[in-house]
Amino acid sequence: MKNNQIKVYIAMSADLIHPGHLNIINEGRKLGDVILGLLTDKAIASYKPLPYLTYEQRKSIVENIKGIKEVIPQDTLDYTDNLLKIRPNYVIHGDDWKTGPQSGTRQQVIDTLEKWGGILIEPPYTSGISSTEIKKRLKEIGTTPEIRMRRFRRLLQNKVLLRFLEAHNGLTGLIVEQTNITMDNDFREFDGVWISSLTDSIAKGRPDTGFVDLTSRLYTINQVLDVTTKPIIVDGDNGGLTEHFIFIVKTLERLGVSAIIIEDKIGLKKNSLFGNEVEQIQDSIENFCYKISEGKKAQITKDFLIIARIESLILEKGLDDALLRAQSYIKAGADAIMIHSRNTDPDEILEFCEFYSKLVEKVPLVAVPTTYSSITEERLAKAGVRIVIYANQLLRSGYPAMVKTAKSILFNQRALESESFCLSIKDTLSLIPNTMQSGH
Ligand code: SPV
Ligand code: MG
Repeated sequence: MKNNQIKVYIAMSADLIHPGHLNIINEGRKLGDVILGLLTDKAIASYKPLPYLTYEQRKSIVENIKGIKEVIPQDTLDYTDNLLKIRPNYVIHGDDWKTGPQSGTRQQVIDTLEKWGGILIEPPYTSGISSTEIKKRLKEIGTTPEIRMRRFRRLLQNKVLLRFLEAHNGLTGLIVEQTNITMDNDFREFDGVWISSLTDSIAKGRPDTGFVDLTSRLYTINQVLDVTTKPIIVDGDNGGLTEHFIFIVKTLERLGVSAIIIEDKIGLKKNSLFGNEVEQIQDSIENFCYKISEGKKAQITKDFLIIARIESLILEKGLDDALLRAQSYIKAGADAIMIHSRNTDPDEILEFCEFYSKLVEKVPLVAVPTTYSSITEERLAKAGVRIVIYANQLLRSGYPAMVKTAKSILFNQRALESESFCLSIKDTLSLIPNTMQSGH
């Protein structure tokens, strides 16, 4: 009956268990009964990327580790709630959290334990192995279509707002995949990739009129799939004929794309941001609902999403029309609604969001703040938007930079002056992961 009154609390994500985790658990076993606070997906997503394994999968693994008496969820990065419930004699954590983003959490643990004389024990961090390093290597290996596709729904369940950024080739796909910053202990990255019809067309030197056909779009999608692991949303224009749309759904689903967005317009494709400057015809509610429901019937898994895009505000048909369409499309099976606007002022979108939030039957809302780019993510989230798509910024920022270089070469009749705003050759060569790996 040794130590049976002594409670030891250990919190971890336990996504990729390695000897470092087992060391910590072993230290705990020596002192008493180990209660493992397993961080939920939500708790993890609040400070770093979503874990590979779901909570249930991780739980089933740790429950079977020798020395763990009980597994309970820890819903926040902060330990306080669980500590107050359990009042453990000891908390154990590797000493790596003394500095860096987790140092605040550590202090909170110390302050809470003090209330009943609990002790924080910090064994030396197991060097040479870390989940972050393993995850980096896993990213290099890649992902599978199923895991990638499902990741979008998991993110929706666990994060307040998802941010997607446009990519139009492998290189821009890598930028969306790899770019991240840590600010004020907040880890920020893009949650996924938007394959825009506008930037895919423009990158090929073509107008956004549907001229770039599905085969060519699939070529771009495959380039991005090849070099990324994050979820992908494809801009499907209006989805084409319903008879064709069902095949597009199956193809994208098979590739591991998470969602397609289709817009409720018919006739020759025109970019929405032209508004009524060009002739654009909206589809009837009945036809568009039929397209959505046939698409939903065509998909094989439960994971793929069909997102209905409402063009009523673009075409100045008014808020009531937009809301009526939202309700109809949801009834027809749309998994999410994208509401588009070309106003520079976000008021129009915010007004829609306000009425949308009062609907009884709702699905996640998507916004594309291209013209109303002053709006912050925080404001969008507060209005109830769940997915924000930055639909064209990589292409739009890349183009002026390239023209500047071309002009500099013409002006100077040599390339030297452009060097100062070009990536160095060395950095260019190391842009692509594993470039230096030999074939044998
Ligand atoms: C795209 O990115 O192609 C879109 C969004 O459909 S928009 O250009 O605003 O219509
Ligand atoms: Mg488009």
